[in-house]
Amino acid sequence: MRVLVTGGAGYIGSHTLIELRAQGHEVFVVDSFDNSSPEVLARVSELTQATVPFAEVDIRDRAALGDVMAAFRPDAVIHFAGLKAVGESSVIPLRYYDVNISGTLSLLDAMDKVGCKRIVFSSSATVYGLPQYLPFDEDHPCAPTNVYGQTKHMAEQVLRDWAAATPEASAVLLRYFNPVGAHVSARLGEDPSDIPNNLMPFVAQVAVGRREKLSVFGDDYDTPDGTGVRDYIHVSDLARAHTAALRFANGSIGAEAINVGTGQGYSVLEMVEAFARASGRDIPFEIVARRPGDIARSLAAPDKANKLLNWHAEKTLDDMCASTWAWQSQNPNGFREEG
Ligand code: NAD
Ligand code: UFG
Repeated sequence: MRVLVTGGAGYIGSHTLIELRAQGHEVFVVDSFDNSSPEVLARVSELTQATVPFAEVDIRDRAALGDVMAAFRPDAVIHFAGLKAVGESSVIPLRYYDVNISGTLSLLDAMDKVGCKRIVFSSSATVYGLPQYLPFDEDHPCAPTNVYGQTKHMAEQVLRDWAAATPEASAVLLRYFNPVGAHVSARLGEDPSDIPNNLMPFVAQVAVGRREKLSVFGDDYDTPDGTGVRDYIHVSDLARAHTAALRFANGSIGAEAINVGTGQGYSVLEMVEAFARASGRDIPFEIVARRPGDIARSLAAPDKANKLLNWHAEKTLDDMCASTWAWQSQNPNGFREEG
């Protein structure tokens, strides 16, 4: 298939490009490089031994996006482009609504103009909000507790309405749990531009000596060791879920929300221990107050992905830690090192 990938230079998008090419798809990337750089695409080109064609375009620029769409004429779109920091989303909410909602509207409009009827969308487990029961299945009520989550929930609704109104259209709404890890080559990985918000990149920076110690946000949760439990999913498994979702979209109509997680939870302290084992480094940490808005546990029921997409997570916790360590230690400054 001809697949247009918005946000393809980002963390999850770049890993998905590798998988798309491995499956024989033809790709074209649209990215504003707001949170990435062309160096990422140069590395994907190197790993796949073929230049990745791209346009530096903001998805909200309807004219420019329309030109790309008309020239490439995709069979399907994978829509990663967006803003994703929970804390920042309550400080600059309008920008989050603009990029994540207006950007999605602009994209669907451009797709309509060329008759493209298939889309795979990056949603998030954050759409569920506080758990009424666990694991989260796709029927769990959605009540996001932050602006970022609201934008994902609203974009899902936009996509559902578009799919209902567009004959033969298909929208797959992938609700990611906690993506971690890096490409097996150690040439691609997560490269936060600022102090990492998320656990795994922070731990990796402590291990490599870029930060002194990890702050563990609370040890008094109702979990076995008192620290927060999450469903970490290896980014390469997540990338495979996208090619599986494309196959599914190709043979279905309507909108479908599907969790992408392993169903297995690990606590903060278990992650720290696993990372210390994988890296052979000490990970100094201190217990501090809970982070506002955090929940004790988040876990996916992955049954729907197993069944509809014929997809199962394969990588282990050690794979997640070892690949993150290889990426971090071989690229201590992320993608900024070369050039
Ligand atoms: P990322 O920031 O690494 O990638 C997003 C990409 O989109 C970047 O390359 C950025 O430059 C680009 N972009 C941003 N705004 C744009 C715009 N207006 N026009 C064109 N390009 C734009 O993030 P990621 O971790 O790869 O996440 C990808 C998607 O998955 C996002 O939509 C995110 O909300 C969602 N998601 C991520 C996580 C996670 O923990 N990483 C979890 C759940 C959902
Ligand atoms: N944590 C720490 N110290 C840190 C960072 C995190 O102790 O420096 C803890 C958190 O309290 C939590 C766990 O590590 O218990 C995981 O935290 P992350 O920030 O890595 O992940 P979250 O589950 O909080 O957030 C992620 C995504 C969000 C998404 C959310 C729900 O980053 O985008 O999952 O799907 F909204």
